[in-house]
Amino acid sequence: MVTSKDTVFSLPRGRVDEFQFDAQVADVFENMIQRSVPGYALLLEMIGVLAGKYAQAGTNCYDLGCSLGASTLRIRQNVPGDCIVIGVDNAAAMVEKCQHNIQRDHSRAAVYIHEENVQDTRIENASLVVMNFTLQFIDNEDRQAVLKKIADGMNSGGALILSEKIKFENPARQDLMTELHHEFKKHQGYSDLEIAQKRASLEKVLVPNTKDQQIDWLKAAGFSTIELCVSCLNFASLLAIK
Ligand SMILES: C[S@@+](CC[C@H](N)C(=O)[O-])C[C@H]1O[C@@H](n2cnc3c(N)ncnc32)[C@H](O)[C@@H]1O
Repeated sequence: MVTSKDTVFSLPRGRVDEFQFDAQVADVFENMIQRSVPGYALLLEMIGVLAGKYAQAGTNCYDLGCSLGASTLRIRQNVPGDCIVIGVDNAAAMVEKCQHNIQRDHSRAAVYIHEENVQDTRIENASLVVMNFTLQFIDNEDRQAVLKKIADGMNSGGALILSEKIKFENPARQDLMTELHHEFKKHQGYSDLEIAQKRASLEKVLVPNTKDQQIDWLKAAGFSTIELCVSCLNFASLLAIK
């Protein structure tokens, strides 16, 4: 993948509009997510490890909200060759670049990238589902139904990796994690202006839940084992086994 530096929020804006996964963001997304999500590189490594462990021969593996295909590729490179890997994203600019990235990989498993809302995606015969930082963009009242649909389409023993930005009930803890996340971003070279403008832009579109809320929904959806597998500051990935 060709990585351009993320400068999307570097210039002062008179008005900060709601964040969109448009062409400008797609152009720099790889750099943006690496510099914004602490632990992202480790998470991609773990997706490869978990794909190798949980993907079952002859099944489907999904990457819901696949963006440029970073996790789609980790899945494809680690699953049995007769698996079918399906990446889904509803942003045209992301899908176009994802298709391009996928074409340069020659792993055996078939891969398809669909431009659609994950709420419309049919999940079936699935042994592995990855949903990295995507549920958080769906209306809160619809999220539990999405997790139930995923669980219903999964085979026994299959794994869901659910990664989200999380919030904390305790206000002091929430403040500390927010502050440390901003410090992390400053260490990645983002200015205070970039951090503030991106935060304002995401405020209404990225609505985090607590980890406990997610665990409750996963249990209710039918997952039997739920473990925290990667976590750093206010970002957490849960491994849920059906
Ligand atoms: C933070 S990015 C995901 C990063 C990616 N999973 C990764 O690991 O690199 C969120 C992605 O979800 C997509 N998205 C948001 N809501 C969606 C929806 N309802 N259906 C499909 N894709 C969605 C966005 O277009 C964006 O590409």
